[in-house]
Amino acid sequence: MALSATSQSAIIVSAFLLPILTYVYYTRNFNSQSAAGALPPPTEITKLFIYPIKSCHGISVPSARLLPTGLDLDRTWMWVTYPDYKFLTIRNLAKMTLIRPDYNASTDTLTVTAPAPNSIDAKLQFSVPAHPSLSWLEENTEVVNATVWSSTTKAYCYSTKLTGGFNDFFGKEVRLVYKPPFSDEPRKLGSNGAKDLLGRDANTLFPDMMPVLVGTEKSIGELNERLKKAEDLSIDVRRFRPNILVKGDKPWDEDRWKTLRISPQAGRKWWKLGTDCEVLDVTQRCARCHVPNVDPETAEEHKRQPWDTLMKYRRVDEGIKFKPCFGMLCVPRGHGSMLSVGMVMQVTKVTDNHKYIPGF
Ligand SMILES: *[C@@H]1O[C@H](CO)[C@@H](O)[C@H](O)[C@H]1NC(C)=O
Ligand SMILES: *[C@@H]1O[C@H](CO)[C@@H](O)[C@H](O)[C@H]1NC(C)=O
Repeated sequence: MALSATSQSAIIVSAFLLPILTYVYYTRNFNSQSAAGALPPPTEITKLFIYPIKSCHGISVPSARLLPTGLDLDRTWMWVTYPDYKFLTIRNLAKMTLIRPDYNASTDTLTVTAPAPNSIDAKLQFSVPAHPSLSWLEENTEVVNATVWSSTTKAYCYSTKLTGGFNDFFGKEVRLVYKPPFSDEPRKLGSNGAKDLLGRDANTLFPDMMPVLVGTEKSIGELNERLKKAEDLSIDVRRFRPNILVKGDKPWDEDRWKTLRISPQAGRKWWKLGTDCEVLDVTQRCARCHVPNVDPETAEEHKRQPWDTLMKYRRVDEGIKFKPCFGMLCVPRGHGSMLSVGMVMQVTKVTDNHKYIPGF
């Protein structure tokens, strides 16, 4: 008995097409990581920044070692009040951005300069070893408990023989403290980086919250288009103090990044990933305050921007609805390899449930 054309088609569909359709359906779903969408194409590191002293001027570097605590030398020092060793911040002291650390690799020295008060060209200056030995620390510092927000941690406080001149800059007694990237009393992460959420113990030095901030050119570009229209303004990404800047795919696509991999070349197979590759867990979006309104070159604070513009469309995190977000906070898994401008960054996992947990 001959089968009707309809029955023949039905058999063809079930025998050949259904398995193929099922396969396509599952691979698409697997690659698209369900509701969070498909993975973006690989992108490239365009800038690396370190901010050796918290809240002070940053340095653009061609390469930097990624330690478990963040990029080497990033937020390794911090100015604190005296005698209670509480952190001083650009939030209420915009002029801190005029303090410029400079790193000399051949001498492994950090030189810190600032304009001397009541003078046009005089400078305050001191130099310290960028990677001090324990014996240097014993000779030139004393151990104190220093506080960033509500987190207090062991730190080495520098002798005023080195830093005393900076009391004039601040107009009060201050101290400089240092924390080594590997220590017996590390500063444990809280918030979305706490052990029960991250799945492991992780630490940092003196950033507010997490070891690394990643930003994209696409997003600063999109923000600058809006600022241009609103006030004929364009701002440098350094106002947001990122560590790693990448080209990026679509503006604000970073909102859903979950895991990042940085490697020397694109498309490397997982079985060839060596110790020159780094993986970072993206813990959360970075909620912003008014600091990006300060021009890091002049310390002048814009009355409105970019805060007003960001508030209009970047209050995107349901964990912190009253603040706009820019950039993603990350915790390196940490092989300690060198990152360089030009390296490839791949997003290996995306998520649709980032939610900011405030506080340290
Ligand atoms: C680093 O320090 C050395 C020795 O003081 C000096 O000769 C050299 O010019 C410095 N390098 C830079 C880039 O400043
Ligand atoms: C720092 O605080 C800890 C815990 O409160 C305390 O045991 C330690 O003595 C303090 N260290 C200094 C140098 O004050």
